[in-house]
Amino acid sequence: MMTIQKRLWISNLILILITIVLLIGVSLIITEKSREFIGFPSSDDQRQPPILNRALLRADRIIMKTIESEPDQFLNIDYLSQIDNFLNSFNTALIVKKENNIVYFSPFMAEIDANHQAFLEQRINISQISQGESDIVRVSDTLFMKTIPISFTDNTNGSLFLINDATTASQELQAFKNSVIYILISFLIIMIIINTLITFLLSKQIVNPIIRLKNAAQQIQKGDYNFQLQAPSKDEIGALFESFEEARKQLKKSEETQKKYEQSRNELITNISHDLKTPITTIKGYLEGIRDGVPKSKEKQEKYLETIYQNAVHMESLIEDLFLLSKFDLDQSFYQFENINIKEYLADCYEELQFDFQEKGIKLEYRVHYDENKLVKVDRQQLKRVILNIINNAINYKSTGNPIIEMILTEKEEEAQIEIRDNGIGVPDDILDKIFERFYKEDKSRSNRSGGTGLGLYIARKIILDHGGSIWAKSQVGSGTSIFFTLPEARENKI
Ligand SMILES: Nc1ncnc2c1ncn2[C@@H]1O[C@H](COP(=O)(O)OP(=O)(O)O)[C@@H](O)[C@H]1O
Ligand SMILES: [Mg+2]
Repeated sequence: MMTIQKRLWISNLILILITIVLLIGVSLIITEKSREFIGFPSSDDQRQPPILNRALLRADRIIMKTIESEPDQFLNIDYLSQIDNFLNSFNTALIVKKENNIVYFSPFMAEIDANHQAFLEQRINISQISQGESDIVRVSDTLFMKTIPISFTDNTNGSLFLINDATTASQELQAFKNSVIYILISFLIIMIIINTLITFLLSKQIVNPIIRLKNAAQQIQKGDYNFQLQAPSKDEIGALFESFEEARKQLKKSEETQKKYEQSRNELITNISHDLKTPITTIKGYLEGIRDGVPKSKEKQEKYLETIYQNAVHMESLIEDLFLLSKFDLDQSFYQFENINIKEYLADCYEELQFDFQEKGIKLEYRVHYDENKLVKVDRQQLKRVILNIINNAINYKSTGNPIIEMILTEKEEEAQIEIRDNGIGVPDDILDKIFERFYKEDKSRSNRSGGTGLGLYIARKIILDHGGSIWAKSQVGSGTSIFFTLPEARENKI
């Protein structure tokens, strides 16, 4: 597998190689051009004239002109030493030959490489005086000899020899080449250093965060969400880190809700099993007693059967409540809402209950402070369940004396408030908040009642919340309890 780091380094290497090739090319071009500029011929070029700079070229032209106009000047020692002096400053020596006699021999010849002296002298001696073109001989790499034919006014022929020693120029050229190479090499080194540094930083800035992300992902894979991922920068990688961090938070949250949900399910199952086990154990015990003939008298037997019956009834109501709870969770369209006249609805409830209450010796009252025509949106059946659950508590937790239960309907801002008030045993302050919790039921020691399911107020609250209302309690131990709930008014005032 090719890692990003490797790729970065390879691209760095390629870049450096390309730079090296380019620099070699550039240095070749520069030295070649500079040689042409100086006028120094390459070593395999024989025909190139030894014109090493513009000044020498001008001298060469003047000489050619003088040869045509006044050739006898080249017999004039003053003129000759003057022009020779000038040529000397360009490392060039002048020799003049008339017929077979050397007329002028530059003292500068003494400074020319001794190895070539003999060759030069031989060339000068054998050189045929001809009418021919001027001729250039490359004696050595840096030594050039130009022969120019000349005709004097007395009709004799001769030759001019210009011997140029280009050693200095060649050395200069070499020095120039070297400095070009030095500059290019240092350029290359700087460029390699910078490039390597950039690659290093880039790889650190890209690869390190990726490794961190990989480790974080592995941590999540192991189910560990409890860490924080700090974005290393504010660029694309930073954005990637932020999304990752967001995902981690979501995962953590969903895991927590999952845990909570599981915990509450476990609690539910524990509660249900416990609450079902108690009556079943009682029923089983009493049935065994009857089978073994424990209750001897008919009276005793009936007492046994009554206990069994009561426990079966309790189990039935528990199972009913549980069934209802599971329906709440399963079915979203569980409710059948309609707009009703709440005043009339409660009046009907009152009528129905009245009969039963009279028998039990409990006084039920209904008071209304509410607009006749206002409607609320409710599910009739479920609202009945709420009222019954609350009223059942008022009956179950009544105190001795004259139990009175009041239903009071009042108008509140955009809602109807119903209070069900009793004069029973009351609820201590510290548990007032808990009575709406699932499976919360009274401490057995507080009353001698066979306990309820602990689901009555939980179901009531659930139904009221699903109606968009709220529910709460006020109580005073010894003087009674009020359960309040509200129902929002219908938006459209139509039945
Ligand atoms: N009107 C009331 N007077 C006194 N205590 C009450 C009243 N209503 C509810 N409670 C307390 O709140 C608890 C929870 O009520 P509920 O959810 O109906 O369960 P259950 O009636 O099955 O015990 C009761 O056990 C009781 O302690
Ligand atoms: Mg109850």
